[in-house]
Amino acid sequence: MMNELSVIEKLKTTHNAGRDELVFLLNNITGNGREALRKAAQETSLRQFGNKIYIRGLIEISSYCKNDCYYCGLRRSNKNAVRYRLTEEQILSCCETGAALGFRTFVLQGGEDGYYTDERMCGIVRKIKDRYPDCAITLSLGERGEESFKKLFEAGADRYLLRHETADEAHYAKLHPESMSGAYRKELLYKLKEIGFQTGAGFMVGSPFQTTENLADDLLFIKRLAPQMCGIGPFIPHTDTRFRDLAQGSLELTLTLLSIIRLMNPRVLLPSTTALGTIHPKGREMGILHGANVVMPNLSPAEHRKDYAIYDNKICTGDEAAECVRCLAARMRSIGYQTVTDRGDYSEKPIAGQL
Ligand code: 5AD
Ligand code: FES
Repeated sequence: MMNELSVIEKLKTTHNAGRDELVFLLNNITGNGREALRKAAQETSLRQFGNKIYIRGLIEISSYCKNDCYYCGLRRSNKNAVRYRLTEEQILSCCETGAALGFRTFVLQGGEDGYYTDERMCGIVRKIKDRYPDCAITLSLGERGEESFKKLFEAGADRYLLRHETADEAHYAKLHPESMSGAYRKELLYKLKEIGFQTGAGFMVGSPFQTTENLADDLLFIKRLAPQMCGIGPFIPHTDTRFRDLAQGSLELTLTLLSIIRLMNPRVLLPSTTALGTIHPKGREMGILHGANVVMPNLSPAEHRKDYAIYDNKICTGDEAAECVRCLAARMRSIGYQTVTDRGDYSEKPIAGQL
């Protein structure tokens, strides 16, 4: 007989579970199960990383986007979105601030903005690498062709984040215009890995039309892809989208999924995201206690923060980079963890085993 504790035990010992088991667990988990799952995930994370939390400096380089994802505040057809893009100088200046604050990873994230051609983007990557040779560069710039990915990798980019959003292609079609395809998205993720990027997939929790089966399929897709990183956060409606009146993703479900992801992928780099911090004042701390091991303070120039509005009420839009770093370090300390300035690359071996 399947019960929640047997599924949790299986996740803990085999790092795997079947679709039926995942659906069962997600539908039937009780308070006791949640605590058992949380504890197992936290222990797994402690065994791999110790109480060290990696920090990544997030630089939101452009609010322009040529896509029209139905859930996103920056989608092309949102006429109310304020658009900006950072120049090479501005990006380098963010890196300078970040390097002084101890960052060893810069995440350049933006909408799909044609301004950042391969030539421009490779130039930016090379300059950052030239100035900060011991730093990792993560790109999160949406879909680009295989050739573009290869050029960026050769220019020195180390990692690429591209959330798959949902592994179910029919569900994907309900969240995106016809011009986009879930199958292609997944293909690109395999390509990124093949090229040599440390690759990140991920999805929103509680996105419109999402079923428990969809979530089980997301978990199984991540297991199969075996990405080095995985970003998840609750869906949060944006007022200028068709989903404005829908409920946001639940805190508990997001935490449960973080824990399951940790157990299924013990070594994966798993951020406790800004979206999680947006739906609950202690969301990011809870994420860490449920198995996450990364936080991403915002390094974007203060004057543009509020304009990178992918969902409503995003936190940290009024803060300077240094404030976010201090704030997150204090938050991590408050739960017995320490932010560290390591590059924090993916590793097949336990990094700070506490066995
Ligand atoms: N709520 C939560 N997350 C969102 N994203 C986009 N729009 C929203 C929203 N309304 C997520 C997507 C995207 C990442 C950059 O932000 O998963 O990949
Ligand atoms: Fe940005 Fe707390 S992390 S202010």
